[in-house]
Amino acid sequence: MREVIWIIGASTGIGKQLAMLYARAGHHIIVSARNGQLLQEFQPFGATIIPLDVLNYKAIEAAFDQVMNEFQTIERIVYLPAFYNPDSFDTLTTQVVDQTIDTNIKAPLYFIIGGRKYFQSGRVKQLALTSSLVAIQALVNDQPYSATKAALTHIGISLYNEWGDTLDIKIIAPGFVATPMTDKNTFKMPFLLTAEQAAKIIQTGLTSKKLLLEFPFPTRFLMKLASFLPHNWIKNLLHLL
Ligand SMILES: NC(=O)c1ccc[n+]([C@@H]2O[C@H](COP(=O)([O-])OP(=O)(O)OC[C@H]3O[C@@H](n4cnc5c(N)ncnc54)[C@H](OP(=O)(O)O)[C@@H]3O)[C@@H](O)[C@H]2O)c1
Repeated sequence: MREVIWIIGASTGIGKQLAMLYARAGHHIIVSARNGQLLQEFQPFGATIIPLDVLNYKAIEAAFDQVMNEFQTIERIVYLPAFYNPDSFDTLTTQVVDQTIDTNIKAPLYFIIGGRKYFQSGRVKQLALTSSLVAIQALVNDQPYSATKAALTHIGISLYNEWGDTLDIKIIAPGFVATPMTDKNTFKMPFLLTAEQAAKIIQTGLTSKKLLLEFPFPTRFLMKLASFLPHNWIKNLLHLL
């Protein structure tokens, strides 16, 4: 079946690769991000291109109205935007705190509210929010980003508890993926995936019955293990790295 799929955060990274996978498979994609220029890459696929800043609530409402006026039903909405600038508490600034919380917590909540009438009417079949495996265990030098991802996982589970009977909710939680977002990491990222690999895993996961799509397995296992160990073990271990 040819699906209509809206990907927000499709200009780079995981979202771009996911949009490419769906477009190449013959689905109709709607692509959004702030950088409308980069989204033009999807024009040859006949994509619907809607530049959007998810920090702008009015723009979210307008984008929903545009999409839902054009399409009767949307099979999937995959929401990926995030701001990543994790820091140590020695140098963290209020500006980074604001931008991270606005983009990673407020914006997805705005998005849920902005699309509420369409989610509740059954015209949207699936909503996937993108969290991270860092939601499982706080590490070091990873705030406020990892706190916002833990919050988003919480939001997704609450949404599932409230609307899960009529809307298919997914929470995507990747480990490390090579994208412009992680280019700034100076440390060696364990079990690093390419964006193409991550997109394929997500594409398969979105057709499953699971709520949480956590991957890859080794990173998930280590994060879960760490969450069960005494806090002082983890602290001492992190200081050795
Ligand atoms: N890469 C990893 O290792 C990793 C691991 C775990 C979770 N994740 C999560 O996966 C998601 C995608 O990350 P990525 O690695 O693919 O990063 P990325 O390449 O930086 O992609 C982020 C996407 O979000 C868009 N975006 C950012 N702010 C936006 C805004 N205000 N309004 C609309 N769009 C906005 C960006 O486009 P514009 O700049 O054009 O707006 C871009 O398309 C994020 O939620 C991230 O937290 C990534």
